[in-house]
Amino acid sequence: MIYPIVKFGDPVLEKPAEKVTVFDEELKKLVEDMFESMYAARGVGLAAPQIGISRRIAVVDITFKEDPNAKIVLINPEIVQKQGRHSQTEGCLSIPDFRENVSRAQMATVRAQDLNGNWFEKMGDDLLARAFQHETDHLNGKLYISHISAIKRDLIKRKIRKLIKAGEW
Ligand code: NI
Repeated sequence: MIYPIVKFGDPVLEKPAEKVTVFDEELKKLVEDMFESMYAARGVGLAAPQIGISRRIAVVDITFKEDPNAKIVLINPEIVQKQGRHSQTEGCLSIPDFRENVSRAQMATVRAQDLNGNWFEKMGDDLLARAFQHETDHLNGKLYISHISAIKRDLIKRKIRKLIKAGEW
């Protein structure tokens, strides 16, 4: 099932998501649907609040279907180690048509549970590190625009408000 992507302005995107405690078939189905929804929206990462579900679940595939082994499921993730600094253009499926340079750690290790509830750690650099940080942020109610200057952020918010008024958001 393909879920519609929730856009900026919906409060679900700005509140911390609930911890996952039950690892069952329903969770597996939801994760499958999240991959499907992410691919349909042409994204490389998706967090559950972005489909209106406030639970600590994220999916990542920076190869966009190229490599089946690149599919990563992150349940209750947290960033446990960061190193270096890297600035790159970043976007978000929930803030379509906007992109900004965001400075993040160049290397990041995420600690998370898999679909069976087993904890694992995975290290990523560059785009993968960025995806780990961006998606973990989502689960804490934080969007990438919180990492840019207040002036740029306000400009984006103003433009979005205009789009909402015009019924184009
Ligand atoms: Ni995002």
